[in-house]
Amino acid sequence: MTASLHSPITELYVSAESAQKLKVEAGEMPSWDLTARQICDLELLMNGGFNPLKGFLGEADYNGVVENMRLADGSLWPMPITLDVSEKFAEGIEPGQDIALRDPEGVILAILNVSDKYTPNKAREAEKVFGADDSAHPAVNYLHNTAGPVYLGGPITGLQAPIHYDFRARRDTPNELRAYFRKMGWRKIVAFQTRNPLHRAHQELTFRAAKESQANLLIHPVVGMTKPGDVDHFTRVRCYEAVLDKYPAATTHMSLLPLAMRMAGPREAVWHGLIRKNHGLTHFIVGRDHAGPGKNSAGEDFYGPYDAQDMFREYQDEMGIEMVPFKHMVYVQDRAQYEPADEIADKDNVTILNISGTELRRRLSEGLEIPEWFSFPEVVAELRKTKPPRAKQGFTVFFTGFSGSGKSTIANALMVKLMEMGGRPTTLLDGDLVRKNLSSELGFSKEHRDLNIRRIGYVASEITKNGGIAICAPIAPYATTRRAVREEIEQFGAYVEVHVATSIEECERRDRKGLYKLAREGKIKEFTGISDPYDVPENPELRLDTEGTDVDFCAQQVLLKLESMGLIGSES
Ligand code: PPS
Repeated sequence: MTASLHSPITELYVSAESAQKLKVEAGEMPSWDLTARQICDLELLMNGGFNPLKGFLGEADYNGVVENMRLADGSLWPMPITLDVSEKFAEGIEPGQDIALRDPEGVILAILNVSDKYTPNKAREAEKVFGADDSAHPAVNYLHNTAGPVYLGGPITGLQAPIHYDFRARRDTPNELRAYFRKMGWRKIVAFQTRNPLHRAHQELTFRAAKESQANLLIHPVVGMTKPGDVDHFTRVRCYEAVLDKYPAATTHMSLLPLAMRMAGPREAVWHGLIRKNHGLTHFIVGRDHAGPGKNSAGEDFYGPYDAQDMFREYQDEMGIEMVPFKHMVYVQDRAQYEPADEIADKDNVTILNISGTELRRRLSEGLEIPEWFSFPEVVAELRKTKPPRAKQGFTVFFTGFSGSGKSTIANALMVKLMEMGGRPTTLLDGDLVRKNLSSELGFSKEHRDLNIRRIGYVASEITKNGGIAICAPIAPYATTRRAVREEIEQFGAYVEVHVATSIEECERRDRKGLYKLAREGKIKEFTGISDPYDVPENPELRLDTEGTDVDFCAQQVLLKLESMGLIGSES
């Protein structure tokens, strides 16, 4: 086994010379612009990280993977790797055809020889692969609201790897890692997968895992796509680099993995194991709640804490990579060291300290102390640079409600109050203003409204990223679109949804612009609340009841909410 792990793995690339020729031919083919996730998948397909896959899954393989984690030939593969496309693009494509796959700049990375075109049953895929058709799961949400409705499958001819300008020296293909291990004479290597910064507990557990399995250690963080809301990979890699010199250089290595995670818990653990085996690893650390997506819409965990370990154990012989179960490490103050929680015999007589992920985020966002026993000063400094205290970060206030509900008026009052306070640049993206300046060509169909809201979301996320305050005030009738905007913004700062809950009857009674009358007469079509839907926000940060209250009071309530969230205050 050791020999085969260290010999080269099959890649899907053609020679540079053939690639040159094929690129010219591919210029004439129908072409598909790959999404960020598809680029990650393609890179690992082409470099052998997804061995034995030879391309995006055709229908028979897809069905096998969804139903029982096996390709049509019986090989173990737990995750559907599919090329989802729009209906419109799929219409012009027939099996047998070749299509060019391009990166966002138009560079042709690969050719897909389409063998299958099929429409997946997404609800079934969600149930089987992620355990529930529940959009609280980030991958289920992606499946229903981002992924296209049609899948294309077929073998890939790789022309070139996606281009990365960041951390080039730290990125390795499976064959580069295998060659490195060969060169170093490493035979047993345990991988630590992570999507979070490394703190002292992680260092201790990785040391222990390496010692227990008498193996070398590979820190193998994911830098493709992780869970929405995670610390961005640039910051994380700087954090990893800061702690790397605390590991013995002769026995530890770090490499970055361009994987798009799905947060599929047990199936994801098996997938991670297979990917690591392809990278020449012999052992893999599986933690408590490995690749867990958080809570479902009923507030419960999607998977049991040890489901991932159980599934990995079941398949590890077949996979050819051995699991090193993760220990939950806690800090024992009396002995000033980390110990596995389940091995502390005198636990009732010692002081055990722990800082959860949530508590860490709170301390960072409020600028509070993070003790040295918990993390390394270099790591904390990096995190503080990226995440200044909330009162210094940008944020978005997103008003939603019917036409005439009072959104714009309250938003205006809020803006003036925030400008009076000073500290951060503030921009108002009012519905009418946006329609004039950004979306003048759009109407009110679902498609156009979504496009309008996504544009607002994009601008607001840029403002938030750069430390400003964006106040948005469109109708934004669709919950899924609002959620997409929330996710985009929360990468950079807080998203505060304010439902201006004026009833449709009251809006119609006020009819400030005379639009309701026209809508009733059928002179304006698709009018929200009259002849078009409005999804009432289920969990807005704030719901404003405007009936019987004045504008000033409503704006004041928003300010109080912002203060309670730590977004404004003495430091702003
Ligand atoms: S959306 O759904 O969020 O894209 O709408 P938005 O950009 O906020 O634009 C709403 C304003 O456009 C006017 N208007 C209509 N609203 C709803 N439905 C239809 N069919 C429609 N046609 C025109 C209306 O004045 C809205 O302004 P506000 O400020 O909300 O009253």
